[in-house]
Amino acid sequence: MADAFLVRGGASLHGSLPVNGAKNSALKLIAAALLAEGRTTIANVPAIADIDAMLDVARHLGADVGRDGDGTVTLDVPGEVGTATPPELVRRLRASIVVLGPLVARHGRARLAMPGGCNLGSRNIDLHLAGLSRMGAEVTYGPDYVEARADELVGAAIELPFASVGATENLLLAAVTARGRTRIINAAREPEIADLATMLCRMGARIEGVGSPELVVDGVDRLAPTHHAVVGDRIEAGTFAVAAALTGGDVTLTGVDPEHLRLALDKLAAAGVDVSGDAAAGLRLRAPGPLRGTDIATLPYPGFPTDLQPQLLVLLSQARGTSMLTENVFDGRFSIVAHLRAMGADIDLEGHHAIVRGPTALRGCEVIATDLRQGAALVLAGLVADGETVVADPHHVDRGYADFAGRLRALGADVERADAARARTPGGLPRAVLGP
Ligand code: UD1
Repeated sequence: MADAFLVRGGASLHGSLPVNGAKNSALKLIAAALLAEGRTTIANVPAIADIDAMLDVARHLGADVGRDGDGTVTLDVPGEVGTATPPELVRRLRASIVVLGPLVARHGRARLAMPGGCNLGSRNIDLHLAGLSRMGAEVTYGPDYVEARADELVGAAIELPFASVGATENLLLAAVTARGRTRIINAAREPEIADLATMLCRMGARIEGVGSPELVVDGVDRLAPTHHAVVGDRIEAGTFAVAAALTGGDVTLTGVDPEHLRLALDKLAAAGVDVSGDAAAGLRLRAPGPLRGTDIATLPYPGFPTDLQPQLLVLLSQARGTSMLTENVFDGRFSIVAHLRAMGADIDLEGHHAIVRGPTALRGCEVIATDLRQGAALVLAGLVADGETVVADPHHVDRGYADFAGRLRALGADVERADAARARTPGGLPRAVLGP
């Protein structure tokens, strides 16, 4: 019998929840630590599978990694770090591609297996590679690896045709010790990139334009280790905010800056959710009445985050009226729709638009997590479904949410892992999760 989330719908979520450090920041901060010899400590690192994978990459490259129970990670980085990562590590985690820039910068060469991670349509790394080439790296690749070499990286003006998060980060990490000035034009502006830039500046980097579409980096000879605390995870916060809204709850989220979620909160407000509070007092979500439909389009920050798109699709299925949700960042990101339809949602797909008519009653059934955010959104759907929803392949959700079931339970939800259910009632598992 496979592991699964078991969700029994009907409970309304109430209470206060501390939000963890941002996955998408912590992963890149670990890569940044590799740029400086000595001990870097990073606090507020979430206990999730993607971080385990990234720390394995850092270990493989020669760092001595320590981790305490409070979310602080210590990286003792040697003078010489490795230049290659084995395929099994990189395939576990697409974000590990961000070590490419730092390794070429420090050692003049790096060889990586092609990255893995969520299967979200065509996820290329051409912008990362073109940018490194502009800085003087010779890039070669085969079907399952990419290699970059440069005697010296030299600053350049690099205009990104799309504000790619990963390419901006990789080029920033390469530029901080390159010779001369690098301009990254049409840079991504996500708060996690600002967090990375803040840590790099603490290490001695010279970066201007943080938070704007143009980053200007003046290379320095060397960086020093530092201490840094990871910014709060706006996507985790947004996921719990949707859970509160869906269930007619009243939840306060601490440890996150609501400004990082501004557009998503505006959309929740448009849907009838009462949004209040601030970073100091906590972000409060109350859903006193029925939800209203609204139109949403994903875009790079400060636009609506694609990582909250499947969760909002669940919400719109419970809102009155017809809503259109447009996905502009990834193709292949509507895999949740077939599962939501099976649960009773009325959703049509037209290219990169989802047309949602609501509200429709959802019924519990067996569904399958196929990526991180889609899996989390299916658990949210289970919170308002009639009966029991079984979300198989929960390891996708473990990549980005620490103890998702336990934290929803702390707010009053009826969610557990199949393994926990089996331990409590041996032989008493629902038929849906039993193998053939
Ligand atoms: C990061 C986040 C992910 C989030 C995404 C968009 C991490 C670990 N992941 O992913 O959670 O959903 O930002 O906010 O931080 N593209 C290219 N060529 C490239 C790079 C990107 O065509 O070289 C395309 C991708 O295929 C995709 C789009 O650009 O369609 C967005 O990608 P990008 O912004 O780079 O996202 P990631 O860094 O992969």
